Amino acid sequence: MPIRQLKISGVRNLQPLDLTLQPGVNFIYGDNGSGKTSILEAIVLMAAGKSFRTSQLKHVLAHDADRIEIQMDIDDESLGHCQLDSLRLKGGDHLLKLNGSVLTSQAEAAHWLPVQVIDPTTFKLLSGSPEERRQFIDWGVFHVEHSFMEQWKTFRKQLKQRNSVLKQKEAEWLPVWNKGFVESALVIDQHRRDYLKRFKPEFMRILKALDESVDVSLAYYPGWDKDSALQDVLDKQQERDMVLGYTQSGPHRAELRIKVDKQPAAEILSRGQQKTVVAALKIAQGALFQQESGRRTIYLVDDLASELDEKHRFALCKLLEDLKCQVFITSIDKDKLTDIWQPVASTVFHVEHGRIEDVAQEIQGVTQEQSPVTD
Ligand SMILES: Nc1ncnc2c1ncn2[C@@H]1O[C@H](COP(=O)(O)OP(=O)(O)O)[C@@H](O)[C@H]1O
Ligand SMILES: [Mg+2]
Repeated sequence: MPIRQLKISGVRNLQPLDLTLQPGVNFIYGDNGSGKTSILEAIVLMAAGKSFRTSQLKHVLAHDADRIEIQMDIDDESLGHCQLDSLRLKGGDHLLKLNGSVLTSQAEAAHWLPVQVIDPTTFKLLSGSPEERRQFIDWGVFHVEHSFMEQWKTFRKQLKQRNSVLKQKEAEWLPVWNKGFVESALVIDQHRRDYLKRFKPEFMRILKALDESVDVSLAYYPGWDKDSALQDVLDKQQERDMVLGYTQSGPHRAELRIKVDKQPAAEILSRGQQKTVVAALKIAQGALFQQESGRRTIYLVDDLASELDEKHRFALCKLLEDLKCQVFITSIDKDKLTDIWQPVASTVFHVEHGRIEDVAQEIQGVTQEQSPVTD
């Protein structure tokens, strides 16, 4: 599923760029502030419609630009070829195109771009809000169940309508809305349960390969007392829901609890161990996606050297290599990249003050002699 060609303009400090990419590994190195993360940010902007660094896109727009333009040529093993175009104007308008035709939903671009980010902030998947972990599960469901996006939208609509009835204190209308709410809630819940059942063994396998000494468990909570029917829970909580003006229970409150000895992993594990667990979660998700769809995830690994120590870096690279997926890895130091990993097909890019150049030949010549890694 590689991105073959990538054009970016108007993103942070990056000079307009047009890169021919490797279907395998793309190393990007450069000094702090040179623009490495901004390249990954642009890819995520196309895939997810948002940045992983800021919730306000105005910060991504280069100071001297009035628009962000991103274009990608994608070759997908099962979907075929496509071109995605994204144009974002300073005023906020966004035009997204697939093969020249305007898209009305970000989901279509996301479908073409199954992207996973592993960066210095990803340990927050463990310590951050439950919403982050719900989004994590839903990424997995979305990319294998094509009906999921519509079902999710239906559920959101039902939730909104129910909350609006609660706010208006229209108790007599609640039974009507409860029925649709429960129906759509159970669809979402079932998808998540099914997914996690398949995901858990894959996660355990990958975590073991990354670090045998870390032992965590995953427990799914649907968002309501798991021993009760959702309808009964809603009936029981109706008065309180009415006072609060919103629905306390349902899939919007689901949680994936990641634990060590029954305690939250974020409270027990070291920062390094947390990063290992999150990397395992993300790689397992890509591996499962690959098994179930025959397609490959694109991995964006930002600042690899600060993420993991050498032993774990090596294990991570080995797992990504086994998946044979497209990978973008950034580092300040080019040796930190090339000394641990010498995949056959790789390109090395150097970024300096927002300018990027392909330096594959130079690096390959040096590192082939120096590399201590042979497999
Ligand atoms: N909106 C913007 N316009 C222009 N430059 C920006 C903008 N936002 C950030 N920058 C600059 O762009 C660079 C972004 O660097 P970044 O991609 O984070 O670098 P790296 O990952 O290589 O450390 C920084 O030097 C920062 O000062
Ligand atoms: Mg960076």
